[in-house]
Amino acid sequence: MTTKLWGGRFTKSTVEWVDEFGASISFDKELVEEDIQGSIAHATMLKATGILSDQEGTIIIEGLQDLLREAKRGKLAYSEENEDIHLNIEKFLIERIGPVGGKLHTGRSRNDQVATDMHLYLKKHVKKIVELVKDMQLAIVEQAEQHVETLIPGYTHLQRAQPISFAHHLLAYYWMLDRDANRLQESLERINVSPLGAGALAGTTFPIDRNLTAEMLGFSGIYNNSLDAVSDRDFILEFLSNCSILMMHMSRLAEEIILWCSQEFQFIELDDTFSTGSSIMPQKKNPDMAELIRGKTGRVYGNLMALLTVMKGTPLAYNKDMQEDKEGMFDTVHTVEGSLKIFAGMIRTMKVEKENMAKAVSNDFSNATELADYLATKGMPFREAHEIVGKLVLHCIEKQQFLLDLTLDEFKEASVLIEEDIYIVLQPKTAVERRISEGGTGFSEVKKQVKIAKTRLGI
Ligand code: ARG
Repeated sequence: MTTKLWGGRFTKSTVEWVDEFGASISFDKELVEEDIQGSIAHATMLKATGILSDQEGTIIIEGLQDLLREAKRGKLAYSEENEDIHLNIEKFLIERIGPVGGKLHTGRSRNDQVATDMHLYLKKHVKKIVELVKDMQLAIVEQAEQHVETLIPGYTHLQRAQPISFAHHLLAYYWMLDRDANRLQESLERINVSPLGAGALAGTTFPIDRNLTAEMLGFSGIYNNSLDAVSDRDFILEFLSNCSILMMHMSRLAEEIILWCSQEFQFIELDDTFSTGSSIMPQKKNPDMAELIRGKTGRVYGNLMALLTVMKGTPLAYNKDMQEDKEGMFDTVHTVEGSLKIFAGMIRTMKVEKENMAKAVSNDFSNATELADYLATKGMPFREAHEIVGKLVLHCIEKQQFLLDLTLDEFKEASVLIEEDIYIVLQPKTAVERRISEGGTGFSEVKKQVKIAKTRLGI
C-alpha cells in the first residue's frame, strides 16, 4: 500500500531512505511560485479548450490561487514523502478542493511541468541579474567620472608598463560587464520558450492549446519538438556559462582590488562597511568581500562543469539525472546576485588614494616608451631608439635615478636629437594626455568613453 500520487502500480512502499535520496523538495521548493503559475495557466487552458468543465476549471484555478497566496507568505508545509514541489502542490490542492484537484494533471506530465518552472524561474532571474550588472556598471562609471585625470601605472606581466588614466582602467571592466549583460539579455530569447504541453515526452491525445499557455506565461513561443522540450537543459548550461564568464570578470577586478588595498600598493582604501578585521591582529583591515567573490567564482565554474557532466550521457528524453540541474542553478543565481550587489557597493564607497597613485607613476620607468617614441618622431628608427632608451634606463638604475632626473647633457650624450622639451614629454601626465588614439587612455578619449558608457546605461 502506498499513498503516493503515482502509487497505483505499486504494492509496496519505498523504503524511507529511498524517498529521502530521491526527493528534491528540500531545494525545488524555490520553484513554488513558478510551479503554481504554470499550473494556473495549464488549468485555464484546460477550461478554455473544454477539456475541463467551466466549474471544474474554476474550482482548480481558485484553489491554486489560494495556494499561491499562502506560498508567498511562506505558509506551505512541504513533505519529503511527496518528493518534489510538483507533487507537494498537487497533493495540497487535492486535500483542499477534493478529487477534482486530481484533474489538474490532465494532458501534462511532471517532465514538461518541471521544464516550464525552470524556464520561468530563469527568465525572472536573468532579468534581475542584468539589472544588477547594470548597477555595477553604473558604480564603475560614477567612479570613473571622478578620476579621468587620476594617473595610475598601467601594467603588463604585473610590471609597470605605461601610465594610464585610472578611469580608463576602471572602464575596461565596464566593457566586460557590457558584454556580460548582452550575453544574458540575448539568452532570454532561448529561455523564453514554452515546453508546457510536451507531456511526458510524446505530446498528448487531449486537444490542448500550447500557444495559449505559452502566451499566458509570457513565453514568446513553444518548443517544436516534445522530446527536446522535456530534455533540453541547454538554457541552464548557457546561463551557467554566461555566469561563469561574468564571475571571471568580477574575480579579475576583485583580484586587483585586493592588490590595490595592500600595503604594497596603497592605491585604494575600501570602506569599513565592506571590510572586516582579524580576530588576532588588531591592525588588519581585510578585503574579505573581494576575496569571497574571487573564491565563489570557483563554485560557479563547478556548477557549469557539474551540469555539463550530468547531461553528457543522458539518452532522450527525461531522465532523473536531470533533477541534478537545480541546486547548481539556484546556487549560481544566489552567488551571482549576491556578488554583484556587494561589488557595486564596494566600488561606490572605495576611497581612491590619488597621491599614492601619482607617486607610483612618477617613481618608475613607465615613461620610457615616451622617450623612445620621441626619438622615433624625430626620425630615428624605433628599434634604434628602443636600444638607446634601454641603455639610459640601465644607466639610471645604476645611479638610482629615474629618467626625469637626468641632465640635458646626459640626454644629449645618449642622443643629440633630445632637446629641452623632453622634460615635459616625459611627465606622466603628458604621456597619458597625448595617447589620444581611439580607445586610448588620453583624457579626451576617456571622457568620450564615459559619455558612451553613460548613454548605454540610459543616463
Ligand atoms: N523532481 C523532478 C525533477 O526535478 C521532476 C520531474 C520528475 N519526473 C519524473 N518522471 N520522475 O527532475
